[in-house]
Amino acid sequence: MIYARIAGTGSCLPGTPVTNDDLVARGIDTSDEWIATRTGIRARHFAADGQNSSDLAETASRRAIEAAGIQADDIDLIIVATSTPDYIFPSTAALLQARLGIRNESPAFDVQAVCSGFVYALSVAEKFIRSGSHKKALVVGAEVFSRILDWNDRTTCVLFGDGAGAIVLEASDQPGILATALHADGAHNEILCVPGTVASGKVLGDPFLRMDGQAVFKFAVKVLGDVAQEVLAATGSTVDEVDWLIPHQANVRIIQSTAKRLGLPLERVVSTVASHGNTSAASIPLALDTAIRDGRVQRGQRLVLEGVGGGFTWGAALVQY
Ligand code: ACO
Repeated sequence: MIYARIAGTGSCLPGTPVTNDDLVARGIDTSDEWIATRTGIRARHFAADGQNSSDLAETASRRAIEAAGIQADDIDLIIVATSTPDYIFPSTAALLQARLGIRNESPAFDVQAVCSGFVYALSVAEKFIRSGSHKKALVVGAEVFSRILDWNDRTTCVLFGDGAGAIVLEASDQPGILATALHADGAHNEILCVPGTVASGKVLGDPFLRMDGQAVFKFAVKVLGDVAQEVLAATGSTVDEVDWLIPHQANVRIIQSTAKRLGLPLERVVSTVASHGNTSAASIPLALDTAIRDGRVQRGQRLVLEGVGGGFTWGAALVQY
């Protein structure tokens, strides 16, 4: 039996933390009290001008490759989850492959499922590995959401940050990814979207993130609870067997409500939203890497990774780390 196991993780947060008070100082009509009370966010990081998703992905990937104890050229599959790619094409994954100096002609492609992107990419990579076709996958979530924020819209611009997280997923005879579940319901595409594009040299439509916050909140809590139960049920596991829930880091109230719905104490939930903000596809691997490096997540423990985002998309993975 071939399993797909997490061999190493890495992450990257650009620059220095930008606090809620820093946003106020930049002229945004908000307050630390409003943001912290409603979202739990205290700070986030922003990429510098000219620093793109591939730059953050490269740093996170090098750290993951080092943690896995392999060489970059051992990687035979790269999947990058991003909704803020460097270019329309080539993919950020192809750019990343070149940056890492990988010349083995193995496949590299992006997955676009917004804040669920990392779980989608992980699930795809797991299927490649379990099929026996590939042995070492680099799975990355990398975003520069600061580029798609409308700084005149205080209801959204205070919520997001930039960053990247990466894992090396390798073939193993020991269990790793135990179950995954992916879902989408495109009927809800309008509650969270960037409804624009570039054509004929012009921006068509609206290039900024738009969100119906309350609709997103209700949807997120419901589907995150359901999809966590789905991966547990698929393996005959119970919530008591979960050592850590590592959810998409959008909002501390969504995280708390999800944990409550699952009957999971908050002591077993990894939350980094206070210092990272919402980094979309990067948030889960960033939180995972943080909790591995600070010693909370230990080898042999069971983790539920789960995300929800624009589309609407959602998904989960039950992982034996
Ligand atoms: N600072 C100060 N006041 C603000 C701000 C701000 N940044 N933003 C909005 N307000 C004001 C509004 O203008 C409004 O004022 P009014 O009553 O005088 O009109 C008041 O605060 C309440 O506005 P609401 O939009 O109703 O605020 P709500 O309590 O719904 O909170 C929030 C908004 C935090 C976005 C909430 O809906 C939420 O948490 N939604 C979840 C969305 C989310 O986390 N999305 C992340 C992306 S989705 C994902 O990753 C899955």
